[in-house]
Amino acid sequence: MLTPRENLRITQVGPGTPMGNVMRCYWQPLLLAEELGEADGAPVRVRLLGEDLIAFCGTDGAVGLVDAYCPHRRAPLFFGRNEERGLRCVYHGWKFDRSGACVDMPSEPPDSLFKSKVTVTAYPTWEGGGLVWAYLGPRESRPPPPAFDFVRVPPTHRNVVKMLQENNWLQGLEGAIDSVHSGFLHNDDLREKSQLRNAPARVEFERTAHGLAGAAIHALGDGRNYVRAFTYIMPTHSLRVRTLGRTGAPEEIPTISGQIWVPIDDRTSWLYNYMYATRPDRPLNVAFVDARNALYGRGPDDFGAGYRLKRSRENDYMIDRELQRTRSFSGIKGMNTQDIALQECMGPVLDRSKEHLAHSDRVIIALRKALLEAADTVERGERPGAADPADYAGVRLTDVLVDERVDWADALREGVLR
Ligand code: FES
Ligand SMILES: [Fe+2]
Repeated sequence: MLTPRENLRITQVGPGTPMGNVMRCYWQPLLLAEELGEADGAPVRVRLLGEDLIAFCGTDGAVGLVDAYCPHRRAPLFFGRNEERGLRCVYHGWKFDRSGACVDMPSEPPDSLFKSKVTVTAYPTWEGGGLVWAYLGPRESRPPPPAFDFVRVPPTHRNVVKMLQENNWLQGLEGAIDSVHSGFLHNDDLREKSQLRNAPARVEFERTAHGLAGAAIHALGDGRNYVRAFTYIMPTHSLRVRTLGRTGAPEEIPTISGQIWVPIDDRTSWLYNYMYATRPDRPLNVAFVDARNALYGRGPDDFGAGYRLKRSRENDYMIDRELQRTRSFSGIKGMNTQDIALQECMGPVLDRSKEHLAHSDRVIIALRKALLEAADTVERGERPGAADPADYAGVRLTDVLVDERVDWADALREGVLR
């Protein structure tokens, strides 16, 4: 449980807020690279960390990111002309380049020097992992670009699915590191007792330079445990692994999957779900990707407009009470949808002063502690964990079936070596 003041401190992301300052120490996913189209194509509206911005693909293919409003008389730059390495406001023709400099001011006399005094807020961008990333922090403390494995693998080994989630980023993230809920909420076959991830789980973890590392330990009841690593990378990344299938046989394509909750503002988030194949000789294929995404309720048919799932608050996520009675714990189809249903309907910003946290919530408490400490770190003028990719380089996840007497950390170490 947090005090109402701590709850604001940990959830708010706008400019000048404590967590907003933490978020501005990192590169954040801005949009899917495919959303921008071709060079000199139509500008795109984006909202990130409570800031309204315009992204545009310049003549050279590099992505510009500027304030949504022209510094002259605040006309919307969305209607701007994307031409010759810059964006030209259509109100009076002022033109800005990617650095934010005003490079043309045709409405002023030719000898005017005013052009050199006006800039539009502009942020750097970087492309990788099928995403365009943006850095909204102070220029002088810009970190190296993201170095997650999913960014580094070839496109043949990676799949990214974006979806809108209408609640604060933190309650989504808290769900991702809470492995205990998966045997309940995500149990889609109540009669099937042999599924590893449905067995009762306890969570063990430790603090690391990048955030948290740990495992869900599922007791199978036959003398064995299914030990599955998870990792939290500051501030918004959760990673999981799957080398074993539902009943323990090795997966044909071992994958690591991740989720990133990117704050649009305090009340809405983009959720980027990605997975990547960990073996160079086993790329993803269409059938594999389709099956996995269908399981999570994020196949092409699951979406309406604007990256929004068709199963939504307006239709109670199409809960099927008969299915819930007979087969599925939740009665809601798709694991993403199940999470989103609960998290959106907690309210846009969960009131953490009303919770009753239990033993199984220790990892949630540790997550919040790490974030609140990051806010203190940034206030001291220091860099928080994982802003430098060196903090998370070398993070390797695995999952193993082991004798229940084997320590979880030893089990994972052996799994990595195998
Ligand atoms: S408002 Fe943009 S040029 Fe005047
Ligand atoms: Fe979940």
